[in-house]
Amino acid sequence: MFKIYPIAWITKSNAVMDFIKEYTTNDPSDKGMQEFMVADFAAGEHDRVPSFFVRILQELQMGCIGKKRITVYSIDLHALRLDSLLGKLEESALLDRTRVVQAKLETMDIEASLRPDTIEYLKKNPMEMTWLDKTLSHEKRIPPESFQIGVLNNDVVGYLHEYYKEYSDAAVALTKVYKTIKVGGLLLVTLPCSLYVVDNVQILESLGFEFLEGFDIDLADGTASIMEREASPESMSRIYHYSFLVFSRN
Ligand SMILES: C[S@@+](CC[C@H](N)C(=O)[O-])C[C@H]1O[C@@H](n2cnc3c(N)ncnc32)[C@H](O)[C@@H]1O
Repeated sequence: MFKIYPIAWITKSNAVMDFIKEYTTNDPSDKGMQEFMVADFAAGEHDRVPSFFVRILQELQMGCIGKKRITVYSIDLHALRLDSLLGKLEESALLDRTRVVQAKLETMDIEASLRPDTIEYLKKNPMEMTWLDKTLSHEKRIPPESFQIGVLNNDVVGYLHEYYKEYSDAAVALTKVYKTIKVGGLLLVTLPCSLYVVDNVQILESLGFEFLEGFDIDLADGTASIMEREASPESMSRIYHYSFLVFSRN
């Protein structure tokens, strides 16, 4: 499972598992709405993050999933990648709990649209609509504090700073990531520095995120060791290792 869904290593984090347990069973700020939203920011075309949160986590149970259903929003600016992702979600019968949204992170708070196949699915299944689906359909934007958990999967901070720097403004993009996560919510950063060595902790703390914990998994035997806040960027996501960082949005 960890080979196909490497993000499953986040189950090693008590901060993450306790948060999911607490918020899927009890969240007074939701005023009774049975909804738990996860955002996969700069999702690309891979379905591993939605598959993990919607299916694998439920299968693992781990005593942590309460009565709230989890919906994953995969957000990216690249329409073709998103439609390829939609095909995979459809094949895996995950369309009921995943949404595919075209948006640039920098402007997703004012401009964001559900992809046509997602709209089609929701038209046929109106009972599946969340409050965020309704806002996206009518206002075409992602309001502040929409998500309990945000994910930057596979060195997205590095990508934004190095590979996409021509047309992405990393600081603005990550500020909007901060804004769309609920106060008290979590940001999960997986494989930081796997391709581009930038100081993820310093960058995200400067935008207001609080470092909670980090882990480094030795893939040879699955041993998990703590990655301190002061760990050097060079020590993260080395070959045959899986690192991830957990931040809180205050
Ligand atoms: C390396 S890929 C995807 C990584 C993906 N999270 C994964 O787990 O495989 C980076 C993605 O970032 C998207 N991207 C880059 N800059 C972006 C921006 N400013 N807003 C939204 N998406 C962006 C690209 O379209 C691309 O699909």
